[in-house]
Amino acid sequence: STKAVILVGGPSRGTRFRPLSMELPKPLFPVAGHPIIEHCFRAIAKVPEIKEVFIVGYYDESVFQPFIHSISTTFPQLSVKYLREYQALGTAGGLYHFRDVILKGKPDRFFVLNADVCCSFPLNEMLKLYDDKDAEAVMLGTRVTNESATNFGCIVSDAHTKRVLHYVEKPESHISNLINCGVYLFSTETIFPAIRSAIKRRTERPRILNYPSSENLQSSFFQGDDEDEDKENAVIRLEQDVLADIADSRQFFVLETKDFWRQIKTAGSAVPANALYLLKAFQSGAEELAAPSANIIPPVYIHPSAHVDPTAKLGPNVSIGPRAVIGAGVRIKESIVLDDAEVKHDACVLYTIVGWSSKIGAWARVEGTPTPITSHSTSIIKNGHKVQSITILGKECAVGDEVRVQNCVCLPYKELKRDVANEVIM
Ligand code: GDD
Ligand code: GTP
Repeated sequence: STKAVILVGGPSRGTRFRPLSMELPKPLFPVAGHPIIEHCFRAIAKVPEIKEVFIVGYYDESVFQPFIHSISTTFPQLSVKYLREYQALGTAGGLYHFRDVILKGKPDRFFVLNADVCCSFPLNEMLKLYDDKDAEAVMLGTRVTNESATNFGCIVSDAHTKRVLHYVEKPESHISNLINCGVYLFSTETIFPAIRSAIKRRTERPRILNYPSSENLQSSFFQGDDEDEDKENAVIRLEQDVLADIADSRQFFVLETKDFWRQIKTAGSAVPANALYLLKAFQSGAEELAAPSANIIPPVYIHPSAHVDPTAKLGPNVSIGPRAVIGAGVRIKESIVLDDAEVKHDACVLYTIVGWSSKIGAWARVEGTPTPITSHSTSIIKNGHKVQSITILGKECAVGDEVRVQNCVCLPYKELKRDVANEVIM
């Protein structure tokens, strides 16, 4: 049989997702009307042989309980458990710590999904490649531009056999533009011994490690505490400590997806993720999407409890959360409007995340800047400064009537009475 593990990390890792992670852990943030990890579950549920799913992280025990309750109702065939690490153990450390639970019932293989990616998770295709090649490990890969490749794990593979020949996590210089999507299928007999040898190596010969993070914004507000975590000796990383070894000695293959793939790291990256999942839902004829009309440019998701004035023009790529109120003559595109937010008449909201219970005044204009479709970054340079391309209003912010907000990140409970651009408002 086959199981699935979703790696969710923990609260300190959500720093780049501020200010939204101040209210809600990133994996539970809604994109295209559903929590980020629910999209993983939808893919997992399409694999008939998966009966058991573990969410592994170091968030508090209570954090995922309501979600687990609701997802178990949606997918009654899945048994879902949260396994809590007492501290960050790293992507491989967590798997190893819970190996007894994962190995229970003797599954021969299991999937590992990074919760912070958005893609179509072609798990059945990965299973097929695994069987065809008699593999011990399969990872999902995608092509990115040469400039962004070094922000990810890079794969050198044999184009014909699809075998992984060489793997380097976030290399200093270019080695390949085929990158690790953060989705794996491992043989239980291969992965646990491989992690065990990595742990042994680590205790015998401690190394000084330095991992640059892929997208550090200049503002001190965004400085993550990844460094602190690297000090932890207990941390064993799949990417740095295990995958290269498997590539050297094992039956390791890569499935290259031609479908969409994005990371969800910064808060702004929720906007492209929202667009990609909405488009996918639209293409598969999902009934939960709003019906296209003169004022609804698909794809658009409107929660059944939201109130949208019929003269408001929405879309493409807009999600409207529960109980949100959208006034007459409003224009919204490429945006996420969260629960209980209100957008007053004739306001315009573009490339923006409107936080929970925030209010946007009449004739206000709140906007971000689109990033190119091939870009894996959500920051842009404006007036010589690196700023968030997407405008983000934290919880309970208020934008006055006729005020213009451009490329700003606004912390919770702030009131914007004057025009602002390219700022973090604290
Ligand atoms: N349970 C647990 N414990 N989860 C963790 C931990 C941990 O200690 N540390 C990270 N995670 C989770 C994160 O929440 C995320 O879902 C995933 O593991 C990977 O996070 P990072 O360790 O921050 O790696 P990354 O995202 O910079 O890079 C990884 O993903 C890229 C694709 O998005 C690597 O696998 C890259 O090679 C890959 O390209
Ligand atoms: P459409 O032509 O409306 O489909 O959009 P577009 O993609 O050509 O337009 P753009 O991205 O430039 O702007 C989005 C829409 O918002 C445009 O139709 C503008 O007329 C409208 N818009 C711009 N500013 C405002 C505003 O302050 N208030 C309102 N209500 N609408 C605005």
